[in-house]
Amino acid sequence: MSEEVVVVAHSNIALVKYWGKREGKSRHLNLPAVGSISMTLDALFTTTGVVFDPDLRRDEFVLGAAPATSSASKDRERVSAFLDLVRDLAGIETFARVRTNNNFPTGAGLASSASGFAALALAATEAAGLDLSQKELSILARQGSGSAARSIYGGFVELFRGDLADGTDCYATQLAPESHWPLALVVAVTSSEKKHVSSREGMERTTDTSPYYPAWITSHPNDLDDARRAIETKDFDSLSEVTESSCLKMHASMMAARPPLLYWNGATTTAMQEIQRLRRSGVPVCFTADAGPQVKAICAADAIEKVEKTLSAIHGVHRLFRCGLGSGAHRATDVAS
Ligand code: DP6
Repeated sequence: MSEEVVVVAHSNIALVKYWGKREGKSRHLNLPAVGSISMTLDALFTTTGVVFDPDLRRDEFVLGAAPATSSASKDRERVSAFLDLVRDLAGIETFARVRTNNNFPTGAGLASSASGFAALALAATEAAGLDLSQKELSILARQGSGSAARSIYGGFVELFRGDLADGTDCYATQLAPESHWPLALVVAVTSSEKKHVSSREGMERTTDTSPYYPAWITSHPNDLDDARRAIETKDFDSLSEVTESSCLKMHASMMAARPPLLYWNGATTTAMQEIQRLRRSGVPVCFTADAGPQVKAICAADAIEKVEKTLSAIHGVHRLFRCGLGSGAHRATDVAS
């Protein structure tokens, strides 16, 4: 039996979003239709322990201490399919025991798949005796979940779309380390319910039916250029503009799908408008939201108290998480409970 390898990987928030996959024969490689740029977050993370055990008859997967839910077997299948990729790379057939825990609610738009597959990529490859580079880990993590390719790195990160059919040029890289620009992020949780339509399903529906999807694709490279430049020059106004635009453009393309996808509730919209009001009053803050009802406020580190005060006063905001910029995936001592 291999030694258990425990890893921590942090969640990330996309400033320029990934939504939609490349079509064609290489669908199983999970290749995004667009590149994306994100910030890795220190306070939201997954810890994962992996051990390959010859006595096992199938992969075992335990998520947190909660009793198994109806989605547990689906989760195990997705993890097992990912472990098959690691077994292929390592040339082994042994099954694995995977223990994992998120320190935040799963499946509610807080990107558990990003930190989850980044942690699994590092823990499983090391437990299998492999020593992959960060680029190789990013390529592997992407096959579990596109956003996971970014959580291999800390700070500001770009995932390249790439052009090759085998996905070898579709990986993430660090644009700037955590210390470059100490921004903060406040997550306003407006619902802890599991979302009804997963990102994966939502992307497919948008690609197949939204008349706005082609415009999303063609206008995207420009957003990446703007965000790259704003991060390099630490220009908060430009970052705000591109971040809110990319977020609303993504949601607009989903809302125009058939059947339409509306991940927001009333508090989501109120929080977005309150953040814009705060910015007009001179506070450096902007919003983004993924495929869920939570609103994420990105702000200068010294504006965090004002942002929290504004968000906590909104009816329907249940909880706030405060984050700074986080580090890349790395070894840990134990699976946090
Ligand atoms: C809205 O990475 O969860 O959060 O590759 O199908 O697993 P899969 O999708 P996933 O999608 C993330 C979508 C997003 C935007 C983003 O993080 O860039």
